[in-house]
Amino acid sequence: MNKNIKINKKRLLQRLDELAQIGALKDGADAPPGFGGVSRLALTDADKQARDLTISWMKDLGLSVQIDQVGNIIGLRPGEEELPPVMLGSHIDTVTVAGRYDGNYGVLAALEVVNTLNDNDIRTHRPLGVAAFTNEEGVRFNRGMLGSSVYVGDLSVAEAYAIPGIDGSNFGDELKRIGYAGEMEPGSIRPYAFLELHIEQGPLLDQMKVPVGVVEAVTGITWLEVTVTGSANHAGTTPIELRRDAGLAATKLIEAMREVAVSIGGNQRATCGMIAFEPNAINVIPSKADFTVDLRNSDGEALAQAEEQFLAYTKKVEKSDGLTISIRDLEHVPPVNFDPMVLDIIEASAKELDIPVQRMISGAGHDAQLLAGMCPTAMIFVPSRDGISHSPAEYSSPEDLETGANVLLHTALRLANQKE
Ligand code: HGY
Ligand code: MN
Ligand code: MN
Repeated sequence: MNKNIKINKKRLLQRLDELAQIGALKDGADAPPGFGGVSRLALTDADKQARDLTISWMKDLGLSVQIDQVGNIIGLRPGEEELPPVMLGSHIDTVTVAGRYDGNYGVLAALEVVNTLNDNDIRTHRPLGVAAFTNEEGVRFNRGMLGSSVYVGDLSVAEAYAIPGIDGSNFGDELKRIGYAGEMEPGSIRPYAFLELHIEQGPLLDQMKVPVGVVEAVTGITWLEVTVTGSANHAGTTPIELRRDAGLAATKLIEAMREVAVSIGGNQRATCGMIAFEPNAINVIPSKADFTVDLRNSDGEALAQAEEQFLAYTKKVEKSDGLTISIRDLEHVPPVNFDPMVLDIIEASAKELDIPVQRMISGAGHDAQLLAGMCPTAMIFVPSRDGISHSPAEYSSPEDLETGANVLLHTALRLANQKE
């Protein structure tokens, strides 16, 4: 391994900056001075523009680009032999008010790896692939890691096409509208191995002052939609004991989510990120409350227990408050452990570059946790300042971004030059 081969930090930062202009916000929530954040929900015009730009970069680098039936973008760089590629990738869609690094960094660092190999006239034994997966965030179409789930066969193309958007749109229609309903059958390019470079989105590496995380496992994720149905009535004339207050019931259940997380302990998480009342009027008792549940745990059993406990609470409140409560399953993605061979190669590459590493677990979901079901897979993290993410205040230093991309480069080289 020629440790003097390094990525071009300036070029990587330039691409990150250019991509961040697409869907740029003037003043997002918690935005630091000078950067209002990015909003690039899946299959919006901004997502289309970002896809077009990413593909133009892929083509400039000589990659052959294919789009699959759910819009996953795969760029291929030939190797000496016609073999399954080592694939590097992540996502370029964002949450509603996002930073510039989540997902984007992994795709652009993969392009920078290709650019560096081109600059140094290096041909790897195996082909290299660069992937940008559709709708990783699942904010507009509530199925996170949608593109990678279809890619590995956990979700069918037809199921994906039927997923409704929170804005009354539909996944299949929007994919066609932006011109990214490709021909290629998802997963027809089966990688030899998959690597995802990503910001940590948590506080560990920043607190420990360690530049690189070797991610051994990713948390499981359960997403539910809860709809509470009561009766609208007058806020002033309706005595408390006669109310069927959907709003009150929803708040009890959101409180219950927190209690479940605390009682399960460990790295159990519970979040309600979305809530809507109907008719949503100041002087009307809500007839309906619709909210989301996001449960996480790297221990699959504990995660199932948390879901069970929460569902038991909904039954209790349904009875005590005389309401009806329906649950819609949005997502059940199990926790995964990554491949020891790939983890060891990440560690060896970092060591060769004299970069200290920390083995760790990811509390955020990632496309890699799906690819792990298809091929040897692992992730590399770089620090997030104060552990902030899913916010314009998300920040990773240019030095850390460069270090992570160099570890990706050398790990990809080792994997792509593995003979058998
Ligand atoms: O929700 C997540 O963990 C990821 O950011 N999609
Ligand atoms: Mn991400
Ligand atoms: Mn994210």
